[in-house]
Amino acid sequence: MWQQRADPVEVRPRLGKTAALKREDSVPGGNNMVSIASICRHPVARLCSTLALSAFVVAVLAAATPAAADVLARWTQYVASGGAEARAVVTDPACPEATVDGVAIAMTERAAPADGFPERVCALALGEGATSVTVAGVAVPAPAKTIGRVVVVGDTGCRVVPNWAQACDDPTKWVFATVAAAAAAEKPDLIIHVGDYIYREKPCPTLVQPACAGTPSGDNFPTWAADFFTPAAPLLAAAPMIVVRGNHEICSRAGVGYSRHLSPDAFDPAMPCPQKDPTYWIAIDGQSFAVLDTSFPPDARVDPAMAAMLRQDLTAIGAAAATAPTMLLTHKPAWAITRGAHDRVYGSSQTYAAAAGDSLPRALQVAISGHIHLFESLTFTNGGPGQLVVGNSGTMLERPTPSDLSGMQAADRTIAAGLEIHDFGFMVMERTADGWTGRVLDETSAPLATCAIVPGPLACRLAP
Ligand SMILES: [Fe+2]
Repeated sequence: MWQQRADPVEVRPRLGKTAALKREDSVPGGNNMVSIASICRHPVARLCSTLALSAFVVAVLAAATPAAADVLARWTQYVASGGAEARAVVTDPACPEATVDGVAIAMTERAAPADGFPERVCALALGEGATSVTVAGVAVPAPAKTIGRVVVVGDTGCRVVPNWAQACDDPTKWVFATVAAAAAAEKPDLIIHVGDYIYREKPCPTLVQPACAGTPSGDNFPTWAADFFTPAAPLLAAAPMIVVRGNHEICSRAGVGYSRHLSPDAFDPAMPCPQKDPTYWIAIDGQSFAVLDTSFPPDARVDPAMAAMLRQDLTAIGAAAATAPTMLLTHKPAWAITRGAHDRVYGSSQTYAAAAGDSLPRALQVAISGHIHLFESLTFTNGGPGQLVVGNSGTMLERPTPSDLSGMQAADRTIAAGLEIHDFGFMVMERTADGWTGRVLDETSAPLATCAIVPGPLACRLAP
């Protein structure tokens, strides 16, 4: 049974408090002072002065030694500038010290404690040449220099809604921690999370799902710790991340927590949840990734203003993709297949599809998304980049569709070749001499499918 803890991500000794206790034991105050004072009444004055001097020296040394930071999470992510930042979540009144290639540098405060978020978020911009980075004495990933292997995960949180919920405390039912460990074991150079981190939006309905009893809920740090930072710890330690915003991180949901911790932009306490993240590019080792925020537009209708905004971004992405091999990262795919109520098969976001319909750059290598809680690979009869959907890394899966999606209709697009996998897991992309291949794995690292991504049309086939 899940038991709520006061601090769900605190898995190591609270070093700061330990250090403080040692100082109290050593300094000439409290019980120690009484003890030394009584010894100083000893007729052998030299013993008294020696003890007093020793206590003084210990006190000075203790005061000069900074307390170990209480770090709840630490990671490295790419940001809107195209560079990388080390980030940390701490309970301390100040940000911890980092080192970059042996040089100590103070991290700066990104987000101060606030309602629901008693922790402090700290950041440090990293030069692309940095090779060794620590935060409060513990290594975090340095910016990637080469990318031979990229892990993709998406839609990872534990679904908790009023009338039904996943068994968040049962790792065989909510498998994100297992996925994160298996994905980290692949030793990737880069990790892409295509969004939807937080699913514990409402209190656990214990009558229908006892295995989520006591879980935190809502947009606050205990929820972020339980749904993301704690289970993601192996991933956060394995490689720098590209973090895509999901529709669970829009402003009416977990948007403030997202902006505090994971946004690629600066955090502004006066506007703690911007509606849209900036569009940005990351170039590593001759490969570019364009990150487009598709979290906010409505799925079930076309919002003309939002579609126009997305068209502008896609035009800029197209110009960049014409000059460098580029993969597009979005949370919502423009076109994908999912099976809703009453067996109605439908595509993804109508607003994004309207924008992408005339503006999705053909020069893109592939689009990689989540949102649909399945794995899918799709190509379309009118050409254009193929679509990968990796939305199966922990959140309750969608209802299965036919495994062969070929010939099905997704909005105005006809699927030329499509594969659906109804299983939890993640994807590993491997760089080849002239492009990329992929392996789709389940949470135990068992192979589910292999893919040819580029060059040539995207094509995935089930593992034998
Ligand atoms: Fe989503």
